[in-house]
Amino acid sequence: MDLLIKNGTIVTATEMYKADIAVKDEKIAAIGTEFNESEFAEVVDADGKLVLPGAIDGHTHLALEFGGTISSDDYFAGTRAAACGGTTTVFDFVNQAHGEKMLDAVKRRDALCSVDAAIDYSFHIGVSDVLSEGMLDSMEEAVEYGIPSFKVFMVYDYGVDDGSFFKVLSKSKEIGALVGVHAENRDVNNFLVEKYLSEGKTEAWWHYMAKNESVEGEADVRAVNLARMAEAPLYIVHLANKMGMEAVTKARTEGYPIFAETCPQYLNFTSEVYKRERGRDFVCSPPIKDQESQDALWNGIANGNVSTIATDHCPFKKSEKDWGITKKDGTPGNFTTIPNGCAGIENMYPYMLSQANEGRLSFSRVVEMCSTNPSKLFGLDHKKGALRVGLDADIVIYDPEKNVTIRNDELHGDTDHTIWEGVELKGYPEATYSRGKLVYKDGEFLGERGKGQLVKCHKLNFKGPQL
Ligand code: URP
Ligand code: ZN
Ligand code: ZN
Repeated sequence: MDLLIKNGTIVTATEMYKADIAVKDEKIAAIGTEFNESEFAEVVDADGKLVLPGAIDGHTHLALEFGGTISSDDYFAGTRAAACGGTTTVFDFVNQAHGEKMLDAVKRRDALCSVDAAIDYSFHIGVSDVLSEGMLDSMEEAVEYGIPSFKVFMVYDYGVDDGSFFKVLSKSKEIGALVGVHAENRDVNNFLVEKYLSEGKTEAWWHYMAKNESVEGEADVRAVNLARMAEAPLYIVHLANKMGMEAVTKARTEGYPIFAETCPQYLNFTSEVYKRERGRDFVCSPPIKDQESQDALWNGIANGNVSTIATDHCPFKKSEKDWGITKKDGTPGNFTTIPNGCAGIENMYPYMLSQANEGRLSFSRVVEMCSTNPSKLFGLDHKKGALRVGLDADIVIYDPEKNVTIRNDELHGDTDHTIWEGVELKGYPEATYSRGKLVYKDGEFLGERGKGQLVKCHKLNFKGPQL
């Protein structure tokens, strides 16, 4: 046997209990209490610690081309940072080019990722072209290959209209896929942008106002209705507002397979961040909303209507955020010329576990939303998302007594700032194992570039809101 983690408290999505975990050939080989230590190459004492499945971050944008630049964490930097925050699998977004078949898009991106990723990864396919010949049908080839997850954007210039969205939903149901949606009302957003700019309102606050609670909420309601009409499941990514949370809750109460993801930045900050001197650093889409929306999201977590937490990690450097003041070409900028996105890949599990440690939710609920539910929703529960015999030994040892104040200088990505700067956490991951190999310990990255593998996912078929 390769590794024994003994004396820890195992946390699953449903329970916590004291037991030891034996690892052999990258897998969890046994869980019990009566192992013979001499049979193990390495024994780790986790007395007083929690032992958790590695987090699965279902939403990252590594090396993403956006707003005239590329997000500042490539596949190595991003997965290195993920590992140091207890995340052992990331789902990154592949954006389909016009006329590009879905599987070709995946393979194009995988060629970049496979040489760099330090932990395991998979993809969602961002669909932008369903009208060109063969594009819609090409979804099936990707599902057969092991990528059954697609995302449509209702906003941005590459977003789709409701008709195309409906076609993708209908197709997904036939082929065993799940559609995720970035829901914001593009036309209202465009109208408000024009209005504010014509009034000389250029600061980051107006990004929030042009993508306010209703701009997102209306699109959430419409997305839920389209999914119901198509009789297809739907996954709303980065849900950030109260109206949307209410629409998800109502649909789930009525038995529909509608699932919501939210992100730590929406749970810990409010739109007040846009009033800070460098409010532009926090421009992301959807923007961070008001206190009422934050409260609604926490309620959704408490009553089971938020299914997953993910980061939407999409960092840009301060010099690029400054394009909101002066554009790359030297002309005056505004809130529309700031690349959208915030960093967070290393902070998700530490933040959510700290909230549990403070008593706001249970450790099991954190494991459910950050690991077990994403594995089920995206079709990798045959490999990951739980501490169970036969699954990959993706394991985090968490020290509930170690307190950490987040400092960008001590994080492991390539970004030069974080919205999490100065946030105090109660408890912190002490060690991360990726398929049984130690990749992080006590603040230090110990993994290797290129060791991460593409995880192929099985087909999906959700009939109701079981997660
Ligand atoms: O601001 C964000 N989230 N940028 C990344 C693209 C997206 O919409 O998820
Ligand atoms: Zn999005
Ligand atoms: Zn995103």
